[in-house]
Order: sequence, then C-alpha cells, then structure tokens
Amino acid sequence: VLNSEDLPQRILDHLNGESNFNSISLAKQWNIDHQKLIGAIKKKRVELTNEGIQMADEGSHEFRVFEFVGENGCLQADIGKQPFGKVGVSKAMAAGWVAMDKSSGAVKVVRKPGVTNVEDVVRKQLETLRIGGEGVADKDKNELKKRKLISEVNVKGLEVSKGASFTTSLAKQEADLTPEMIASGSWKDKTFKKYNFESLGVVPSSGHLHPLMKVRSEFRQIFFSMGFSEMATNRYVESSFWNFDALFQPQQHPARDAHDTFFVSDPAISTKFPEDYLERVKTVHSKGGFGSAGYNYDWKLEEAQKNVLRTHTTAVSARQLYELAQTGFKPSKLFSIDRVFRNETLDATHLAEFHQVEGVIAEKNLSLAHLIGIFTEFFKKLGITNLRFKPTYNPYTEPSMEIFAYHSGLAKWVEIGNSGMFRPEMLLPMGLPEDVNVAGYGLSLERPTMIKYGINNIRDLFGSKIDLEVVYNTPICRHIMTTRLARLWQPG
Ligand code: PHE
Repeated sequence: VLNSEDLPQRILDHLNGESNFNSISLAKQWNIDHQKLIGAIKKKRVELTNEGIQMADEGSHEFRVFEFVGENGCLQADIGKQPFGKVGVSKAMAAGWVAMDKSSGAVKVVRKPGVTNVEDVVRKQLETLRIGGEGVADKDKNELKKRKLISEVNVKGLEVSKGASFTTSLAKQEADLTPEMIASGSWKDKTFKKYNFESLGVVPSSGHLHPLMKVRSEFRQIFFSMGFSEMATNRYVESSFWNFDALFQPQQHPARDAHDTFFVSDPAISTKFPEDYLERVKTVHSKGGFGSAGYNYDWKLEEAQKNVLRTHTTAVSARQLYELAQTGFKPSKLFSIDRVFRNETLDATHLAEFHQVEGVIAEKNLSLAHLIGIFTEFFKKLGITNLRFKPTYNPYTEPSMEIFAYHSGLAKWVEIGNSGMFRPEMLLPMGLPEDVNVAGYGLSLERPTMIKYGINNIRDLFGSKIDLEVVYNTPICRHIMTTRLARLWQPG
C-alpha cells in the first residue's frame, strides 16, 4: 500500500531512472488514483475564464465604474448601458467606493465623499494568477471562483521530465538561517523559505496584570495627583500593639477575639516596642490621660505582644504617625494600598484576605470639613460625585463617618468607605503636637474593582478558583474620568 506522504519521494526516484514519464500510465502502473499522483506532482491549477482575462486586461467592473463615474458623478441610466455597469455598480457600492444620489431628481451614481483613489485589487489578483503566481489567499480565490473569473482545471494528464535543478532528495525548506549554518557553510546547499510578509505572526505569550493590580495603580495615581506619598506596607504580620493598642482599641474589643483576627502561632509574640510610648499607651487605656478618662481596665502586655495578621492598614498608618511624631512633625498626606486579613465567613463578597486603600492627612487645625473636602475630591476622580455620610463608630476615630454613594446600576446607596478624625487618645501618646489633627479614610480595593469589571463573585477575582481568561482579557483600567463609570454612580 502506498502512503501518499511517500509519493513525492517515489516520483523523484522514478524520474531519476526514467528521465520522463506520463502521469496516467504511471498511475496505472502503480495502481493509484491519478488525481493523487497529480496532487503530488503539482498543486491545483487555476485558469482565468474569458471574463477573467478581460478584467485582467481592462480592469475589474467595479474599478471601471469608479473611473466612469468620475468626480462629477453620472446618470444611473448611462452607466447601466455599459457592459460593466450592472455588476460593477453593485460591487463598487459594496466596496464603499460609490453611492446613489437622488437629490437632484434624476438618479445619479457618485463617488463616496473622501474616496478619491481606489486600488483595483481584483485585477491585481487576476494578473498574478494568470502567470501562475503565488500569493493570492484562498478566500480571495474562492471569491474570484464565485464570480466566475477563474476556474480550477482538472489536469488531464502530464508529461513529466527532469527540470534544471532536479535532485532526488526532498529537502525541507529552511525557515531560519542559523549561526551553525553560516559557520559550517551548509547554508550553500540549503533552500530557504520565502518571507511571508502577509502573515500575522504568533501572538507572543506574556504576563498579565491582575485586575486588582490595575485598579491599584489607578488609585496610586489619584493619591499621587493629590500630593500624597506612599507608606511602607511590608508587614503582613503585626503585633496586636500596633494593630489594636496603639489605635486605642481596648483589649476586650470583640474584633480582637478569634472570630475576626488570625493570631499567628509561630512566632506567637513580638517583644520589641518603643518602651516609653508603650507605657503611655498602657496608661491611656488603663487610667486615662491627655484629657481622657480612658477605659479603666487592667491593660496587659501579653495581650499587646500577640502577633496577628494585620486586620487593617490603619496599623501601617499608626506606625507611620508615630514615626512622624519622632522625626519632628510636618504636615503630611500619606496613603497605603495593601492586603489585610480577617477571619470572616466566606461568601460571594467576602474573603479572609482583601486589600484596603487608606488615606491619612496630618495637619494643624484640620477639621471634619477638610476630610470631607479631601475625599469628595478623591471620589470625584473616580467619577463618583454624590456622597452621603453616616455617623459610625471606630475605637480610634471621633467623629467617624461611613461614606455612601448612590449606585444607579444597583439602584441603591452603597457603602464605599469608612473614615474619621483620629482620637487624641491615639495621637497624643505618640508625641504629636496638641494642635495637630489627623483625618483618615479607608475603602476596599475589591469592591470598586468588582463594580468596574462587572464581577459578581469575589472568588472569580481572587484566590485559587479565579478564571485566568478573565485576568488575560480585562482591559487596562481607566477609572479616572470614565463617563461610563460615572454614570453608574449618578442618581436617576
Ligand atoms: N480602618 C478602617 C476599616 O478597616 C478604615 C479607616 C481608616 C477608618 C482610617 C478611619 C480612619 O474599615
């Protein structure tokens, strides 16, 4: 049985001995289908029809219509009389070269505005095929076939003989000229594939930014544009002291217990703290001070030493504000965007780890009005302009406000952030001057990202079950000033 892949080699070997042969007799001799033999000798042959020959000589119908119409247009009746008129007009209209114009009463064919020059591609293709050239795509060939400008010829029989560069070795054409070929000189005996300048090439595989990281970089740009600088957030494991105590969060606060906080077992505790500051924190919790009555309980160092996965980025802010008090206060606008951890019940909108976006402003005589001014500006840059505030409670801020915005897609006011003025019980033990106020606000990175990309389940965005196609295909984020997003956040 003859394998059709071996056929070209067999033909060459045969020709080598015979010098020439007739395809029909050879097919009989080898007992194979004649068309198979032809296929191995030669690709399908294409021939121009009489109409095709005429077009190759004189131009395609549509091109001749375009010429005939000229700059001033012509009557449809006139062009209809031309041999190329009927087909040509409809092809030229389909190509967007000409249009009908009935404005003057009589029906005219005119060139489309702006189209001054067209290329007669069909004629070019026909000219190429006429001389047996390559480079006409199959889909173009099919189109020409449909228009009956070319036809495929069934080869009846071929007289085959050796050509000038006859050889019996079927060498594959090389696609690349390698350094080895040059060094060994073997390139001289090789044949090389022609460049295909029409080819689209392979899409290079590359890394992709996660949607959360795209949104994060947008938030960073907003903060930078408002004169904020970024805090160092490289501390997932934090002591309870910085995560809670420094923030005037009492040690019996429910958020500290095992329901909300991941405690770290190894290393279980931190032991290095600024001693005098730790003393002042202990005092303000247990006995009060700095004008505060305190909580009046037995503050324990062991509780403050316990390591946790930080539950909020306000732990980062606390360290930074302490640093600011130590290095000599100067007005500061600071932000951080990073991961936090909470032992929450997992559902479609909650994960045990998520990202917080936090802004902190330290300034003399700062008021709640300033804070509102700052995040009004901040959210405006996200396209969110109508905000509402609701009093809330945080152990470390007073007053505290939840920030709401109306989401017209969801047709309700949704909470988008939490904020407040940090308490003197937190700031004064750090050593910040008495007339310095610090405002802060925080929001999650996940919520705006989900809204932005229309993701309903947080597990599709984050974690082991995330769909990588979503990551590959999410467009570059453009929160800033996107009208589409802004519209979502307007009432009515
Ligand atoms: N830490 C708060 C939270 O986790 C956000 C916040 C930051 C509130 C700063 C007030 C000031 O929700």
